[in-house]
Amino acid sequence: MSLIEQARTAQRSAYAPYSKYHVGCALETNDGTIFTGCNIENASYGATLCAERVAIFKAVSEGHRHFRRIVICTDSTTPAAPCGLCRQVMAEFFGPELEIILCGANETERRYTFAELLPHPFNQSSFV
Ligand code: THU
Repeated sequence: MSLIEQARTAQRSAYAPYSKYHVGCALETNDGTIFTGCNIENASYGATLCAERVAIFKAVSEGHRHFRRIVICTDSTTPAAPCGLCRQVMAEFFGPELEIILCGANETERRYTFAELLPHPFNQSSFV
């Protein structure tokens, strides 16, 4: 299965009874391991986790910190970009050249580097 197909499969697991907005993603590590994620909502809305953070936290919790690509799938007419909170979590682990592939309805697709989506990240190097 392609990375896009894996993200679409993960999207089917989205738990989104409140927004009804289903997101799936697939994150590829530098060694080729794939971690998927979906959004998981909560009756206490602020406890909701986005698909991207689920995938990143799954990977990091299993010892993977180096990534090369992420696919994020929604059913939006224009492929939706990750929220600001997820971009901040990405800034901890993603390099500027990491490829972000956004997929929307009807096979629409947009590709960015992480630096294009978050040009001036606050991360570890900000402390020095
Ligand atoms: N959501 C994501 O999973 N990723 C994003 O980058 C944006 C938003 C989810 C959170 C919530 O379950 C639903 O989409 C509506 O905001």
